[in-house]
Amino acid sequence: MQDILPGEIERWQAIEARFRRMAELYRYAEIRTPILEQTDLFVRSIGETTEVVDKEMFTFERSDESLTLRPENTASAARAYLEHSVHVREPVSRWYYLGPMFRAERPQRGRYRQFHQAGCEIFGDPGPTSDAEMIDMLARWLTELGVGNLEVDVSSLGGPETRARYRRALLDHLRPRQAELSDHARARLEDNPLRVLDSKDERDQRAARGAPSVLDLLEGEDRSHWEGLCRALDALGTPYRVAPGLVRGLDYYTRTVFEIRAVAGDLGSQNTLVGGGRYDHLLESLGGPSVPAIGFAIGLERLLLALPSELAAKDPFCFIAPLGERAGLKALELSRELRSLGVPVDLENRGGSLRSMLRRAGATGASLCVVIGDSELERGVVQLKDLGAHDQSELEWSKAPFAISERLKPKGQSEGSP
Ligand code: HAM
Repeated sequence: MQDILPGEIERWQAIEARFRRMAELYRYAEIRTPILEQTDLFVRSIGETTEVVDKEMFTFERSDESLTLRPENTASAARAYLEHSVHVREPVSRWYYLGPMFRAERPQRGRYRQFHQAGCEIFGDPGPTSDAEMIDMLARWLTELGVGNLEVDVSSLGGPETRARYRRALLDHLRPRQAELSDHARARLEDNPLRVLDSKDERDQRAARGAPSVLDLLEGEDRSHWEGLCRALDALGTPYRVAPGLVRGLDYYTRTVFEIRAVAGDLGSQNTLVGGGRYDHLLESLGGPSVPAIGFAIGLERLLLALPSELAAKDPFCFIAPLGERAGLKALELSRELRSLGVPVDLENRGGSLRSMLRRAGATGASLCVVIGDSELERGVVQLKDLGAHDQSELEWSKAPFAISERLKPKGQSEGSP
């Protein structure tokens, strides 16, 4: 689990702001749900035999309740959707969220125990057009942000019958190879043979080679849904790869599944940025009505590792250096006026010589430094030093706030530009 301090937080804020802007462009509205839920919600949604539920949840007992720090947010979104009977009010709901998730995984670069996801969920739209729109939105957004070498993997798991057939076909393939499997995969084989395909263990990967493809088993409406998705992605020109081995680590998925990977920046081996898919039967299995749904989540730590460091330019700001107590009072007044004009101000309250104050102004990264000393007070002016251009000018009191705010506006930016 990590602290995020000033200096680093600006990149977080920039990425969060850009995610919100993208989500709102596609008419998603924000939800915020508690980070704690009853353990049973995750067991029933994500699945008892998944790695997440089996090994990675932070769970504790309180009174007679078992609670868990959310390992992901789809289960919570589904719970909230049902608890507030949202389907009665609106046929289609598009939600987005940002926030911390918790999984007790072995930490490494790009894999943490508290990490942050930004995600979207659509309830009430059976797809496949919305599936394609979602995948296309992500591929475009990540490319615009500057993430290089994207790989968009897409597949379909079909509905419950396909899944059952796939399970049987996989078992037929894996049972004769049981001895080659890792201990964990062997122990889980009969409960959840799909996990073998997702395993990082080389022995499991070798045993899975030549396994049947789920896409060959799709029939009827499942097949036309998959073909419709591919047609829509082709029409949009979204680059994607058909990945029949893609099973995802959570049990609620049906039909469309996708992952987006990047070979970029400092990302290293934990390079899956986005995971998502359809979960048309989850709401029903939680005791609600039958509502089709699809969603995804992006890991923000990984996204930041994949991005160039100059993502967030700080807003330019002004440093005020008053010399003496009377000048300090004037500086307080000027700071308030500047802030009311939207100019960020760093007011130096610790006193000291002009030289030391200018040194501090430079160290903070300020663009402008206002100096107020006795002679300025007498003449009703301030000295304005441009710390980038190294020039100096004198401004009258009454004109200073507006002149400074104009000087700090980024060039070419008009009011209201994004
Ligand atoms: P997930 O594949 O488990 O899916 O996680 C999505 C993304 O969260 C991953 O691709 C990765 O970027 C990030 N992530 C997961 N675990 C960690 C970790 N320990 N450290 C850092 N980043 C991590 C879900 O969570 C589903 N709820 C996605 C979804 C939404 N499906 C439908 N709707």
